[in-house]
Amino acid sequence: MILSWTLVALVLVSSSWAEEGELSVSKLLERANRDRVPDLDEPTLIGGDIAVKPDADRNADPCTSTGCLWLKYTDGKVYIPYYIANHYSDRERAIIERGLQSFASVSCIYFRPYQNGDHEWINIESRTGCYSSVGRQGGGQTLSLERSGCLYHGTVQHELLHALGFNHEQTRSDRDNHIRVHWNNIVDDMEYNFYQINTLNQGTPYDYGSVMQYHRYAFSKNGLPTMEPIPNPNVSFGQATQMSQNDITRLNRLYKC
Ligand SMILES: *[C@@H]1O[C@H](CO)[C@@H](O)[C@H](O)[C@H]1NC(C)=O
Ligand SMILES: [Zn+2]
Repeated sequence: MILSWTLVALVLVSSSWAEEGELSVSKLLERANRDRVPDLDEPTLIGGDIAVKPDADRNADPCTSTGCLWLKYTDGKVYIPYYIANHYSDRERAIIERGLQSFASVSCIYFRPYQNGDHEWINIESRTGCYSSVGRQGGGQTLSLERSGCLYHGTVQHELLHALGFNHEQTRSDRDNHIRVHWNNIVDDMEYNFYQINTLNQGTPYDYGSVMQYHRYAFSKNGLPTMEPIPNPNVSFGQATQMSQNDITRLNRLYKC
């Protein structure tokens, strides 16, 4: 009897772990940033997890308007310095490093540790929630991966893709051909999270499986969908747990890898 209860408990524990691991990046981000109360020196977020300066033009893709790409070296590779704050545990640091390294095998993007003399780098810190600016900002730019909630392979990749210059899939310039937004179901004053951006799509198709695509009920105020696919509303989307092949292709084209 004791043995069987132990087995039941083990099964319950391991199934809840499995679910945790299988939550989509979009769900994980929503959970981590829900009820966020930022410190005074932290940025305003739009789209759930994109850091913006107070005077930013929210409708323009910062990458297209100011050239925020990271620089490529003569060997054709893009080396991006990073600094990981020392408040992470070894296990947490390993998750972050695995996310950073996952770009090198599929693109010309090489994240490497910060060295004295670097002018532009990413400061990875546990602040309030998961967030990043879009593209290279100059100097040290904060990419927050809060210890509770943001340390998953896919969320690390998602925030790094923002830092590399990408926006959310549902704000793509061709969004309206693929996703119908139900404006009446969106939390009041959060409609801007769905404003379209003049994104550089690099000739890649709209991708429901992108790690940058939010889920059907994102920012819903009433439990009804805020987004539905066109033409078949039953198609699943926003379920990615890591970068898709399209995310990788787009990255390689943006940086001409
Ligand atoms: C979507 O699902 C609903 C409910 O299961 C069904 O009635 C409808 O026919 C489906 N629509 C399409 C286009 O498959
Ligand atoms: Zn995001």
